[in-house]
Amino acid sequence: MKQYDLNTLTPQEIVNELDKYIIGQKSAKRNVAIALRNRWRRMQVKTMIKADITPNNILMIGATGVGKSEIARRLAKIVKAPFVKVEASKFTEVGYVGRDVESMVRDLVEQAVTMVKTIQEEELKDKAMKRVENIIIDALISDKNQPTGLVQVTDVSGAPPESLREAYRKKIRAGEMDDHKVKITVDTSPPVEVGMIGGGIIDEAAFGNIQEMFNNMMPKKSTKKRVAISEAKKLLLTDELTKLLDMDAIKEEALDRAAYLGMIFIDEIDKIACNTHKGSSPDVSREGVQRDLLPIVEGSNVNTKYGAISTDHILFIAAGAFHVSKPSDLIPELQGRFPIRVELDNLTKEDFHRILKEPQNALTKQYNALFEAEQVRLVFEEDAIEELANTAFSLNEQIENIGARRLHTVMSHLLNEFLFDMPDKIKANETVTITKRLVQERLEELVKNKELNEYIL
Ligand SMILES: Nc1ncnc2c1ncn2[C@@H]1O[C@H](COP(=O)(O)OP(=O)(O)OP(=O)(O)O)[C@@H](O)[C@H]1O
Ligand SMILES: [Mg+2]
Repeated sequence: MKQYDLNTLTPQEIVNELDKYIIGQKSAKRNVAIALRNRWRRMQVKTMIKADITPNNILMIGATGVGKSEIARRLAKIVKAPFVKVEASKFTEVGYVGRDVESMVRDLVEQAVTMVKTIQEEELKDKAMKRVENIIIDALISDKNQPTGLVQVTDVSGAPPESLREAYRKKIRAGEMDDHKVKITVDTSPPVEVGMIGGGIIDEAAFGNIQEMFNNMMPKKSTKKRVAISEAKKLLLTDELTKLLDMDAIKEEALDRAAYLGMIFIDEIDKIACNTHKGSSPDVSREGVQRDLLPIVEGSNVNTKYGAISTDHILFIAAGAFHVSKPSDLIPELQGRFPIRVELDNLTKEDFHRILKEPQNALTKQYNALFEAEQVRLVFEEDAIEELANTAFSLNEQIENIGARRLHTVMSHLLNEFLFDMPDKIKANETVTITKRLVQERLEELVKNKELNEYIL
């Protein structure tokens, strides 16, 4: 197996990255960090025991709006491994019970293929570009309307001397001839859409195979086109890269990466748990999805259009609020496959305060940027932020706890009028200062009319 450019961040470094966006939730961050580092650790193992080291899947439990999905979103950016995030509830929507649960594994492989392809393309870029230049040079030399400045001389054999080719190459590479037109041959065969065969009974993996087969069978169509060299470079580069790519090697490595480094984040898993406590009969469709999920999480082979993949070593992280149902409402076998339980903390007033200010994408920073677009300076006084956090917190207590999402509501209510008034009434170079008083005034009605559905979200 190829030595991967694995994510070698240490657990502490992973937590540091997550800290840039997510306030609190220490235990969730730490567990995720360990699980990630364990992927790398396992790859270092040289003995037979390697095959037995399977990932410890994680179940994250925490109220609405405390950062579960946010952790997944940030994780996706950190891991240099195939990563997909799916919503478990989506699978119940499929016509008949959980038919499509395997699609998450196919998506993972698809991601891995894109990833490996990008890496290979990067490696082959120079080589492909040289070939592109040669094609353009050939076109230029055989063209009667040659650009001025380069006189074509031929040697005895009739071929232009190397020096001419190199002169062209230099100019093309420097972009000096970008506007000059050349005649090139480009591939114009349209992609073939196979359409649904067999009335939709055929599964996605097989469908992909057929699609590819058709594409390969169709004769390649190409046309000669006169385009600017800048355009020719782009068109030809794609063609040449495709020719150079070793698709077999890509498939093999992608399957490998997906199988040994892949991660699948199953969000909203509580939505497929059956709440049997309230006297309702067990929901057949939800349980069906769980049953379909089981072999995948447990480890089984899934067919993809790139080949079969075993899910034994894929890391699964599931998350859910479990408001209505409990983790114990999941079928026991599935519970058993998520041995690590982490509970996310409810957010405090102080957390709200920090969430407003600290993350790299903090709301106050987002609004600052929006105001800046109109060249208006937006300043939050410290006690105004505190007031915002307090108000959001008490609204959560009084109406419904929607976690940090409440901050979005509160901020937009506070700032909407300013956003409307720019740039007509509030003009460039002005400053808007948000004080504690202003927060109280603007949010007063929100606090008073807390029954208003509008704000319940
Ligand atoms: N701990 C946190 N730190 C920073 N921002 C947070 C935190 N928790 C929530 N947020 C903010 O609130 C928004 C909603 O959070 P998120 O989507 O993670 O909720 P969730 O826990 O997945 O809730 P649900 O169970 O409803 O899906 C995020 O986009 C983020 O802006
Ligand atoms: Mg969520």
